[in-house]
Amino acid sequence: MKVIKKSEQVQNIIKKLKQQKKSIGFVPTMGALHQGHISLIRRARKENDIVAVSIFVNPAQFGPNEDLKKYPRPFEKDVGICKSEGVDVIFAPSPKEMYPENYLTYITVEKLSDIMCGKFRHGHFRGVATIVAKLFNIVQPDRAYFGLKDFQQSVIVKKMVTDLNFPVKIISSPIVREKDGLALSSRNVYLSFTERKNALSLSRSLQTAKNLIKYKNIKSAEKIISEMRKIISPKVDKIDYIDIHDAETLEEIKYIKKKVVIAVAVIVGKTRLIDNIIVKR
Ligand code: PAF
Repeated sequence: MKVIKKSEQVQNIIKKLKQQKKSIGFVPTMGALHQGHISLIRRARKENDIVAVSIFVNPAQFGPNEDLKKYPRPFEKDVGICKSEGVDVIFAPSPKEMYPENYLTYITVEKLSDIMCGKFRHGHFRGVATIVAKLFNIVQPDRAYFGLKDFQQSVIVKKMVTDLNFPVKIISSPIVREKDGLALSSRNVYLSFTERKNALSLSRSLQTAKNLIKYKNIKSAEKIISEMRKIISPKVDKIDYIDIHDAETLEEIKYIKKKVVIAVAVIVGKTRLIDNIIVKR
């Protein structure tokens, strides 16, 4: 396994692999790898000749008061995980490598970036779209793998790939959860014992919402959101949003008719957590 810090070096290696007609599977990450990332790496391993993983805590997707500085960076541990999962190439650039002085070019996927998490994290998805586009240009993957915990992110990346004609297939993989329902996240390490227990209200509320739609035939988004709020509200410090959107277009909906994503974002202690569930009627 190669660990590479320079974009040009990755591009040269990929060029040779492409000449040999090798397919490239790519898992972009910010490190602090957990079972969610591992499930993406395993899928990429199954479906491609070569697996590349990027480890880069992307400053452009963090707001000024967010956790960029304290975001976990267990680099050696991540390298060990990649090695044992059969990754071929790790791309781990420095911030300067990705955003050299006088860097000026950003990508915005309009509309989709301003709703849900975008309302509360201004500029976040601009940072995500920009780094993902840059990584795609460097790694030139045939397939790229994203976890559905960041549902909005995967819709935005798909839209960017379509709109900008990137020759890459975006593959979204299901959320990986702890046995008790907590969605895996690199940020879960911030949670105290009590905060972690309170965070379970997210998955519980999503499961309740699903049951209301599937088994109680409730169609009103307002009613479902209000039931979810009753579960979450006593357990968290702040609710950023509880939203129901069309799972394809992310259009906010009032009545559930087809496939929807029910998404929540909250603050528990000082930690921002998101979770979601996809429900088909
Ligand atoms: O999902 C993440 O970890 C990040 O947003 C990504 C896609 C690696 C871009 O920095």
